[in-house]
Amino acid sequence: SIVILDFGSQYNQLIARRVREMGVYAEVVPYFEDLEKIKARNPKGIILSGGPASVYLEGAPTVDKAMFDLDIPILGICYGMQLTQHLLGGEVAKADKQEFGKAEVIIDDENSPFFYGIEDNTQVWMSHGDHVTKIAPGFEKIAHTASSIATLYNAERNIYNVQFHPEVTHSVDGHQMLRNFVFDVCKCEENWSMGNYIEQTVKEIKETVGDKKVILALSGGVDSSVAAVLIHKAIGDQLSCFFVDTGLMRKNEAEKVMKTYGEHYHMNIECVDAEDRFLNKLKGVSDPETKRKIIGHEFIAIFDEQKQKMKDAEFLAQGTIYPDVIESQSVKGPSATIKSHHNVGGLPEEMDFKLLEPLRELFKDEVRKVGRELGIPDHMIDRHPFPGPGLGIRIIGEVDKEKADILREADDIFISELRAANLYQEVSQAFVVLLPVKSVGVMGDERTYEYTAVLRSADTIDFMTATWSHLPYEFLGRVSNRIINEVKGINRLAYDISSKPPATIEWE
Ligand code: XMP
Repeated sequence: SIVILDFGSQYNQLIARRVREMGVYAEVVPYFEDLEKIKARNPKGIILSGGPASVYLEGAPTVDKAMFDLDIPILGICYGMQLTQHLLGGEVAKADKQEFGKAEVIIDDENSPFFYGIEDNTQVWMSHGDHVTKIAPGFEKIAHTASSIATLYNAERNIYNVQFHPEVTHSVDGHQMLRNFVFDVCKCEENWSMGNYIEQTVKEIKETVGDKKVILALSGGVDSSVAAVLIHKAIGDQLSCFFVDTGLMRKNEAEKVMKTYGEHYHMNIECVDAEDRFLNKLKGVSDPETKRKIIGHEFIAIFDEQKQKMKDAEFLAQGTIYPDVIESQSVKGPSATIKSHHNVGGLPEEMDFKLLEPLRELFKDEVRKVGRELGIPDHMIDRHPFPGPGLGIRIIGEVDKEKADILREADDIFISELRAANLYQEVSQAFVVLLPVKSVGVMGDERTYEYTAVLRSADTIDFMTATWSHLPYEFLGRVSNRIINEVKGINRLAYDISSKPPATIEWE
């Protein structure tokens, strides 16, 4: 395996992901991980990640120098390079100008295994304010850019240092360099898959949890579902899940969840029917933020009640995945407190639980792979994201059961038609919004006066920016016919053609 020491770079999980994609197990550990523990993992290579600090400042993250004498190949990236140089007798200083963005690297030693299969000039991604001003003894420069040392190599200790970031796609041959390091330098074998990940994680969960009990709020979304099945595989009935039917879920959601996880997986799962509670609290409220707060608070209240019922649970499991962790700093000092991720509309800050987050290291598509490997049905795994407040923020203005039922039917038609037309996977998030606007229509000989609904479909990579999906007219026509004819309560349908920004994906 490859061990990646985390110095706080926003890219460090990306390194792990790149290595795992090659079929080699990689895991990220904090930079202060005990050297003995690192050795115990038997790594074939160590990667020191980038990070925001300056090696020459007091208190800068560092490692035990003995790491360089382990006879394990090391790759230092950016901060990892500077730290290696600093500790082994080189010098690092603030650069006159920080180098940020694309740069051209000129390879000086084309015979280096690190550069196998790469042209002499290649584009890389730089992001640094410090640079190496004196090369540590034993190192030689094997590549440079116009303004900096790009790559250093220590033959005796088998250490490579790169100032750029090979893990990002802007580094055109970065992937090849990492491959070269992993396979040619570290001599790793391609023997890792999601199956191994599951095996390993199941083992870890067993060790962590022992004979204690675990509680998990299963939303039916991908992350909490995969976390639940994985933990259930490890500890069976020591895991208790509950699903809250807020009355603001999609059509048949509670049934689907209970069927999949209760009946099929035989998980300990309770469906908390809280429709009346939520709808009563929402009565007369039309302000979006207030609605969100009410839904969040009610969820917390239910969570507390479940907790009371499960007094002996020591662990709270959550489907936190890596992108959820990114914003919070990746390197946590040994004393830093863990803040729970508010995945389900806001969980209490103060909880006397230990957190169990088996998916913390994975990206969304990796979570999906794990889910598939665990046998979770595709239609539960490939779902679009669904917001915590649910239909509560898709019924514009005041929420009631009648509107929720109308919206559920319309939404179900839109989603089924997308699936039938093989478009569901083409778009990132699609749903229907119900407006508190009635308009006049005619049906048969009768005049109607019903609600207006809006189809929303967005294409996005990160949900921070999005464009509206260019769905075919015939398709939109079919959906329109079906919804207006089949859903009592809607007689007019519009298609949302706003991008984000300035609009948002949801309407509230
Ligand atoms: P917006 O509407 O801000 O949404 O463009 C971006 C993404 O976030 C989802 N979303 C939420 N998810 N709780 C969630 O778990 C929420 O309160 C919430 N609000 C928005 C939204 O569905 C979209 O995918």
